Amino acid sequence: MPTAVPIRFLLGDELCEPGGFDPHTTVLEWLRGRADRRGTKEGCAEGDCGACTVAVGERRGETVRYRAFNACILPLAALDGKQLLTVEDLAEAPRPGAALHPVQQAMVDTHGAQCGFCTPGFVMSLFTLHHRHRNEPDRPVNRSVIDRVLAGNLCRCTGYAPIVRAARRSVDAAGPDRFEQQAGRTAQRLAALERGDDARFTHDGVTWAAPRSLAALLEWLRECPDARMVAGATDVGLWVTKQLQRFETLLYVGEVEELRRVELTAPDGPLEIGAAVRYSDALDLLSAHYPGMREMLLRLGAEQVRNAGTIGGNIANGSPIGDMPPALIALGARLVLARAGAEGGIETREIDLEDFFIEYGRQDLRPGECVARVRLPLPRPDQYYSVYKISKRFVQDISALCGAFHVRLDGERVADARIAYGGMAGVPRRARAAEQALLGQVWSEDAIEHAREAMADDFEPLSDWRASSSYRMLAARNLLRRFWLESASGAPQRLVVGA
Ligand SMILES: Cc1cc2nc3c(=O)[nH]c(=O)nc-3n(C[C@H](O)[C@H](O)[C@H](O)COP(=O)(O)OP(=O)(O)OC[C@H]3O[C@@H](n4cnc5c(N)ncnc54)[C@H](O)[C@@H]3O)c2cc1C
Ligand code: FES
Ligand code: FES
Repeated sequence: MPTAVPIRFLLGDELCEPGGFDPHTTVLEWLRGRADRRGTKEGCAEGDCGACTVAVGERRGETVRYRAFNACILPLAALDGKQLLTVEDLAEAPRPGAALHPVQQAMVDTHGAQCGFCTPGFVMSLFTLHHRHRNEPDRPVNRSVIDRVLAGNLCRCTGYAPIVRAARRSVDAAGPDRFEQQAGRTAQRLAALERGDDARFTHDGVTWAAPRSLAALLEWLRECPDARMVAGATDVGLWVTKQLQRFETLLYVGEVEELRRVELTAPDGPLEIGAAVRYSDALDLLSAHYPGMREMLLRLGAEQVRNAGTIGGNIANGSPIGDMPPALIALGARLVLARAGAEGGIETREIDLEDFFIEYGRQDLRPGECVARVRLPLPRPDQYYSVYKISKRFVQDISALCGAFHVRLDGERVADARIAYGGMAGVPRRARAAEQALLGQVWSEDAIEHAREAMADDFEPLSDWRASSSYRMLAARNLLRRFWLESASGAPQRLVVGA
């Protein structure tokens, strides 16, 4: 085993090198158990309630960008090289009577707290909104943006109206706070923490490794094919906190440079998205190219989940109700998988994304392989594309059903049709019979009716607590009809809530 290279980060303004911890430790466990910071609360311990929200600062050139994360599922070791801010950091000084941060003062002034349990999480989410607004003053902060920022924070006492008022006030608060004033210096300190080598350590037989290049990641995978890869930990984190699973090696892919890139390899495509690209970092670009995907992206988890979760993690997890696979399959996405080759080289293979999902719980990922990137064709002017998500809550909820539709017309007739669903089978799957029923037909109500009927040959959906089989089938058929109605009215790629 290589020599340990321990992790270090800034906790507020202090350099912190927390040695001797199990790599499964979450930020929340460490804050409350070891760092004596109990302002951050535990509610659900599964990323749903936002009581544990903290701000994580990452260097962006000469400044720092703060984003909200759920500390309850974020591995402590993933903080390496970053700055962690908790509610204790915000006031001017850690003493009674010290001036509060503008977001704290706004919560006081608008009576935004009753029992207070959710309050530290709200304050931290509002803190990140305050900073984003200071850094991007041209992006308006309207009601839907505030709703979006607060969607991952649950309050059951106060009601949201005063908290929304606090958001408004804190955004309007004049002047930079001390974090903004110190941003240049903090960025320099973070730059000094950046490393050329991989962070790695072992505690009680459990190893954490954070390789910085794809070659190094694949070497780790060759040595430890059973290592559990971790990206945003928005799935893995729950296996640890809720199912109490333990892994011998946790292999963090979030620092692998090649997996964090989004690039257009040629002006006419394809668009390549690295497996470790987080939703928040891909949202604007994906929505610009595929506006029909935007609403689903904004409804995938909430801000804290999108700041951590990755597209590669969603695919690799293989869930039948993951939202990205149907959206990408309908676009004709290809998946690039990589593993270590001879003499330190990298071997890749490329498959259709739909072929990755073999059956429930089984994906086409060979020993030593990782998901490297997704390749997406760029949209053409003669195509219609939309994604619709059906869930019990509008945001921060897993889909009962997700339908993605892509049609290309040649004149009035359908030249190409790709329809993919999540939630209709044990894996995300195309509706091939429905597609066949559409091909060559005039894009009309008649053709849609035939395709809706043909869908009976495509799926026999299950009933579970999210939806019954008959509901799923009816909703899947109706989504196809909705897609046709919207395309016929010329608005299939509509823009949505929270734009
Ligand atoms: C509160 C909450 C709400 C959520 N809402 C939604 C939702 O609305 N829609 C939805 O689809 N999902 C949702 N999820 C699930 C989750 O956020 C997504 O599946 C997310 O994309 C997982 O990405 P991650 O980076 O966190 O993956 P991780 O949890 O880090 O990993 C997930 C799996 O992928 C593997 N893995 C990661 N990267 C690679 C790689 N490069 N190569 C091979 N294997 C890899 C891991 O080993 C693991 O098996 C939600 C989760 C939470 C906690
Ligand atoms: S404790 Fe509920 S999201 Fe973390
Ligand atoms: S003030 Fe009690 S849950 Fe929000």
